[in-house]
Amino acid sequence: MVDIAGAFALPGKVAIVTGGAAGIGEATAAVLAAAGARVVVSDWDGDGAARVATAIAAEGGDAVARGVDVSDAAAVTALVEEVVAEFGGLDILVNNAGIMARRPVLEISPEEFDRILSVNLKGVFYGCQAAGRVMGRGGRIVNMLSEIIDRGTAETGSYAAAKKGAEALTRTFAVELGQLGIRVNGVAPAWTITAMTRQRGLNKDGEFEPGRFDEVKEKLAALSPLGVVNDPIDIAYAVLYLVSEAGRNINGQVLRVNSGSSMT
Ligand SMILES: NC(=O)c1ccc[n+]([C@@H]2O[C@H](COP(=O)([O-])OP(=O)(O)OC[C@H]3O[C@@H](n4cnc5c(N)ncnc54)[C@H](O)[C@@H]3O)[C@@H](O)[C@H]2O)c1
Repeated sequence: MVDIAGAFALPGKVAIVTGGAAGIGEATAAVLAAAGARVVVSDWDGDGAARVATAIAAEGGDAVARGVDVSDAAAVTALVEEVVAEFGGLDILVNNAGIMARRPVLEISPEEFDRILSVNLKGVFYGCQAAGRVMGRGGRIVNMLSEIIDRGTAETGSYAAAKKGAEALTRTFAVELGQLGIRVNGVAPAWTITAMTRQRGLNKDGEFEPGRFDEVKEKLAALSPLGVVNDPIDIAYAVLYLVSEAGRNINGQVLRVNSGSSMT
C-alpha cells in the first residue's frame, strides 16, 4: 500500500513560518507542527508568536517563537543562521508575513508604497535568499501570494505590485535554487477570514460591524463556483502539500486556493 500519511508527514523537519502569530501563518504553523515539524513561529509581534508556539506545544507539537521583522534583511539572515545553529539545519521556510493598505492609487504616498513593498516583496526576497544560502537538497520554500496576482482590483495598488513581484521572485528562485535541490512555490489565496480581512467590517469610526463584514464576505464568496471563502486552514493544507514529500516534483508553481474563482 502507498504510505499516504507518510507522504504528508514532516518528522523532525525544521520549519520557519513568518507572520506566524495570526491568521494564515498561525494555521500553517499548527498544521506543519501536527505533521511532525519543529516549527519556529516568527513574527514582528513576538508576544503573539510566543502565544502560538505555546498553544502548539500544549497540544504536543514542537514549536518555539522568535520576534523578527521580515523587512529587516539583517534580522532575517540572523534568524535563519540562529535556527541552523540551534536545530542543525533548515528544511522549510514559509514566507507568509504580509500587510495590506487599501487606498486609491492616486492617494498612495511614497512612504506607504515603500512600507507595503518592504514587507510583502522585500521580505520574501530576504527570506528566500537567507534560506537558499543554508538549505541543502530537499529544502522547501513557500511564498504567500494572493489572488490579486490574477486580477485588477481597486485600492490595492501597492499590495498588488508587491504580490506580483513576489510571484516573479518565486519563479526566479525556483529556477536558481531548484538546481541546488531546493523547491520554491507560491500559494495564492482568495479571501480568507483573518484579522486582515476583518478590516473590511470596520465602519468609519473603526468599530467592527458583523453585518458589514458578512455583506463583503457574501459578495466575495459569490465570485467562486463553490460560493465560499477560505478559512486559514484551507491555505495551511495547501502549504503542507507543497512542503511535503507528496509535492516533491512541484517547483516554481502557484497553487491557487480560490474555490475556482480564477483558473489561470
Ligand atoms: N486574508 C486574506 O484574505 C489573504 C488573501 C491573500 C493573501 N493573503 C496573504 O496571506 C498572508 C497572511 O495574511 P493574514 O490574512 O493571515 O494576515 P494577518 O494580518 O491575520 O496576519 C499577518 C501576520 O503577519 C505579521 N506581520 C506583518 N508584518 C510583518 C513583518 N514585517 N514581519 C513579521 N511579521 C509581520 C502580523 O503581525 C500578523 O501576525 C499575507 O502575506 C497576506 O498578504 C491573505
